[in-house]
Amino acid sequence: MSTVVITGTQWGDEGKGKIVDYLAGQAETVVRYQGGSNAGHTVAVNGTEYKLRLLPSGILYQGTHNVVANGVAVDPEVMLQEMDAMAAKGIDVSGIRLSDRAQVVMPYHRLMDGIGDEARGKDKIGTTKRGIGPCYMDRDDRIGIRVCDLLEEEVFAAKLKNNLAVKNKELKALYDHEPLDFAKIFAEYMGYAKRLAPYICDTITLLNEEIQAGRKILFEGAQATMLDIDYGTYPYVTASHPVSGGVTVGAGVAPKNIHRVVGVVKAYCTRVGEGPFPTEQLNEMGDKLREAGHEYGTVTGRPRRTGWLDAMVVRYAGLLSGIDYMAVTRLDILDNFDEIKMCVGYRHKGKDLPGMPASLKVLGEVEPVYETFAGWKQPISGIRRYEDLPEAAKKYLERMAEVTGINLGIVSVGPNRDQTIVIAKDIFS
Ligand code: IMP
Repeated sequence: MSTVVITGTQWGDEGKGKIVDYLAGQAETVVRYQGGSNAGHTVAVNGTEYKLRLLPSGILYQGTHNVVANGVAVDPEVMLQEMDAMAAKGIDVSGIRLSDRAQVVMPYHRLMDGIGDEARGKDKIGTTKRGIGPCYMDRDDRIGIRVCDLLEEEVFAAKLKNNLAVKNKELKALYDHEPLDFAKIFAEYMGYAKRLAPYICDTITLLNEEIQAGRKILFEGAQATMLDIDYGTYPYVTASHPVSGGVTVGAGVAPKNIHRVVGVVKAYCTRVGEGPFPTEQLNEMGDKLREAGHEYGTVTGRPRRTGWLDAMVVRYAGLLSGIDYMAVTRLDILDNFDEIKMCVGYRHKGKDLPGMPASLKVLGEVEPVYETFAGWKQPISGIRRYEDLPEAAKKYLERMAEVTGINLGIVSVGPNRDQTIVIAKDIFS
């Protein structure tokens, strides 16, 4: 199995960075295929925390190729800042490859994301304000600026001029905002282009040649299933496809070349931004989960909403992405709970629902059907073998596998690389 996709099964922030980092140790290439700097992955290596937003997590391994593929909305300023920060920590960034087809996040995207979402008032989505939604909107409107345009000064100048003519009118009419300056943006982006040029290439050919050669490739999903533009809790979603199918269009890789899918499942649930969240605990239990798990946003610092594990959500993610193995993260955060709950079904108006309802009204009204588990009330961060976990923890995990229909592959019991229990040894085989 030479290609593995990692996808989030909940609302993001499942601890994907840690699992990607673990598997990146076995991969030769790591690829981001969707989203952009709205993502925030935290990886701990030997006690040092690295925060990644746009760069693939494989950057922390010497010699790995790190591909930012065509499906990513690339903010060049953020990308360069991140590359500089890594280089300053002694990390080699020469293995980065940036797709010439990727869409470029422009200053008007960030601006419109911020003021546009606020202008929705009580209906706001609570975006990260990184310009990702407006950037994909321009792609679909066929006025987007791509990375290859940055390498052709005249093409870039023409597209920027045309876009600014429209954007400045919109900014004035909708938000009474002063116009953005062509010369300033032009100079700024040409500066980025010069610095990024050595890393830009045709990543479609690169990746497909690597697949043919049997190189081990890891596709690193950002955000998660319930934030997918089509499958998530629309409209409270991100603007891309975090599900495993996103790899085919986001990296130019055919479905038959996706060999294995790993779904990352946090042992409880969190969500940032607005939108329904059936197992949310707006009570002391929710506060306890937030404090135990330090559940505050990597990108925005916002306190995350917290709740019990929703196995209906994970089962849905399993169906959509064809998940072979679950990687359960942050199990140790539940060490001090007397009781732990898991939602194993939804009831609505007295009936069991067979799947995930499309209607947010229905999802907002469902009654989660909970099973209650005894807590293990002991620290598990030092455990390295599945059989050494407390019986109560194994019971919780095994029920999770049963309800979701997905095998357990990895259990993470702490933030560091070595705090990982590996059950499935054949993820890359
Ligand atoms: P956007 O992706 O900035 O457009 O935000 C849309 C929704 O996705 C908001 O609810 C964000 O909070 C959420 N979101 C975006 N990126 C992440 C992430 O990496 N983790 C969790 N939530 C995210």
